[in-house]
Amino acid sequence: MIDLINVNKYYKTDEETLHVLKDINLHVNAGEMMAIMGPSGSGKSTLINLLGFIDRKFEGEYLFEGQSLLSSSDDVLSKVRNQTVGFVFQNFSLIENNTVFENVELPLLYNGYGLHQTKEKVLAALDKVGLKNKADKHPKQLSGGQQQRVAIARALINQPKFIIADEPTGALDTHTSADIMNLFVDLNKQEQSTIILVTHDPELVPYCDRLISIRDGAIIEDKELIR
Ligand SMILES: Nc1ncnc2c1ncn2[C@@H]1O[C@H](COP(=O)(O)OP(=O)(O)O)[C@@H](O)[C@H]1O
Ligand SMILES: [Mg+2]
Repeated sequence: MIDLINVNKYYKTDEETLHVLKDINLHVNAGEMMAIMGPSGSGKSTLINLLGFIDRKFEGEYLFEGQSLLSSSDDVLSKVRNQTVGFVFQNFSLIENNTVFENVELPLLYNGYGLHQTKEKVLAALDKVGLKNKADKHPKQLSGGQQQRVAIARALINQPKFIIADEPTGALDTHTSADIMNLFVDLNKQEQSTIILVTHDPELVPYCDRLISIRDGAIIEDKELIR
């Protein structure tokens, strides 16, 4: 599904050039659940911004399903992003003044659905994360784990080709983290969701079937895991 070929990324300031991704070669198959691990500053966010079609200022090739989007317009790129990838963040990033239903509905509206065409899909997504009965609540009325489930439902709503989860359990206690990781595993096994998980927490690795380790912008390890 995803092919990065000899990718290098630089941040240039007036004084210096930072080489933040170094000769990255990465192939991701549909259906994988992969952890990208590395210390702070190693280039994880830079890498997922590139994978998630947010950043395309890099050297080398990114082929998605065999095609390069390097020369697409910004409009095309944001459309592809909206239809292809679902993001889950550490801090949930829900809209506080909107209900759970409205939060999950929003990407559908961006994707061209009308207000009266969304109910079934939104409730189905909430059902997948076990929160169908919370549709009318606001984020503040939910626990952290429940808020992250809402964010996962929102990430799933456009049936993305893959999900990028950046430290999705970083703000949660151990028990709730395990719940969220088990939800990702269920989605991976039952819906064949492709999941790219970014973390510095080794406890999340056993939930995944592949581990990529990154140091100073380079992949130093890429191994299959048995879970
Ligand atoms: N916009 C930017 N401009 C300049 N340097 C940056 C920028 N974003 C990140 N960096 C640098 O690139 C390196 C990798 O950062 P990042 O991808 O955020 O790492 P991680 O997510 O693993 O903590 C770090 O040295 C960071 O300081
Ligand atoms: Mg980061």
